[in-house]
Amino acid sequence: MHVPSLIEKKREGGILTDDEIRAAIAAFTSGDLPDYQMSALAMAIYFRGMSPEETASLTRAMLESGEVFRYPPDHPPIVDKHSTGGIGDKVSLVLAPLLACDELWVPMISGRGLGITGGTLDKLEAIPGFNVNVTQADALSQLQRIGVVMMGQTTDICPADKKLYALRDVSGTVPSIPLIVASIMSKKLAETLDRLVLDVKYGSGAFMKTETDAVALADAMREVGEAMGVAIFTELNPMNEPLGRTVGNALEVQEAIDTLRGDGPADLVAITLDLASRVSDVSREQLARWLDDGTAWEKFVQLVEAQDGDVGCLERYSAVHPAPVRREIVAGMSGRVTQVDAHAIGHASLELGAGRSRADDAVDFSVGFSHLTKCGTTVTADQIVGIIHARSESDADQAEHGFRAGLTIT
Ligand code: URA
Repeated sequence: MHVPSLIEKKREGGILTDDEIRAAIAAFTSGDLPDYQMSALAMAIYFRGMSPEETASLTRAMLESGEVFRYPPDHPPIVDKHSTGGIGDKVSLVLAPLLACDELWVPMISGRGLGITGGTLDKLEAIPGFNVNVTQADALSQLQRIGVVMMGQTTDICPADKKLYALRDVSGTVPSIPLIVASIMSKKLAETLDRLVLDVKYGSGAFMKTETDAVALADAMREVGEAMGVAIFTELNPMNEPLGRTVGNALEVQEAIDTLRGDGPADLVAITLDLASRVSDVSREQLARWLDDGTAWEKFVQLVEAQDGDVGCLERYSAVHPAPVRREIVAGMSGRVTQVDAHAIGHASLELGAGRSRADDAVDFSVGFSHLTKCGTTVTADQIVGIIHARSESDADQAEHGFRAGLTIT
């Protein structure tokens, strides 16, 4: 393989062959193809795009750079969900145990938050003791016992993606649909799934700002997944206001606990049931019953216990990560709430310390927002429209400023 010719071919809008893509990814993973050449190739892909066949080849090459999950021959259907990320999106914490009530296996590999969007692994780690570093052997044994495992990407899974994502992050090549599709789908397909539901978000708090871009991403992911023999279901969901009423790691865990105990906010319950029912064998009504009757909660407790989490603290979870400052924000005028901007709240939450700007930053579990008002609510001037949880009064001042900038009452 002559790498400069390969880069030039893509730069001029040519179509790379399966062999060329596989050879490039194999050489990059082993270190034979240096970062500067891979960055140039990623930039050529960013500008020229990739055909569906090239995207499928890239996904397969990244998938085959590492290990994939293997199951015994008589395993139940293997299902999962992936969301392109939003603000206040704690759906995975509810959906994974809920699906496992249906005798399916749910081997959910998740990521950490970066920028304004939160990550499932950070939320899980806000449960004291919860271990997300699970080997494939332990994941399989847990699936056999309780049907669900929630874990991070191991070093054996898609090492090419790990390296390429880090390079994209510093070379201006993250927002490329073929690169995003290959990155997301290679990791999900490493779970060797039968069915996958994709929650593709669009709007101010999402990666994709317009519905048109979200449709293009959803179609490209579906095409690649189906080419690999997985049943793919896609849902497009707006992300203009936060999901539920909380943003921030421990605050979102508390809301997920409430939802698993049958007391969740309407939008969170609805989206969880919509997504779960796409890959479940039982009806939406049955899934709703499992949220209400304690079955999903029991499964969640089993999950926390299986991954060394402190089950005892779940009953008094709201007291586990108290923030030093708790500030109630009142509407200030009466009227109808027409905007609770997800981007503004996501950004304010990041600044409070709930998220990370760089991959190696630590997150503060305690900070964020709770009691957030929803668009369409009629409020009086003295009504609480949100509570800020902060490390200091000055952090709360800054968060209040950001929150108010994203709040419209007419
Ligand atoms: N999430 C990923 O895992 N990869 C991307 O490229 C974008 C979002």
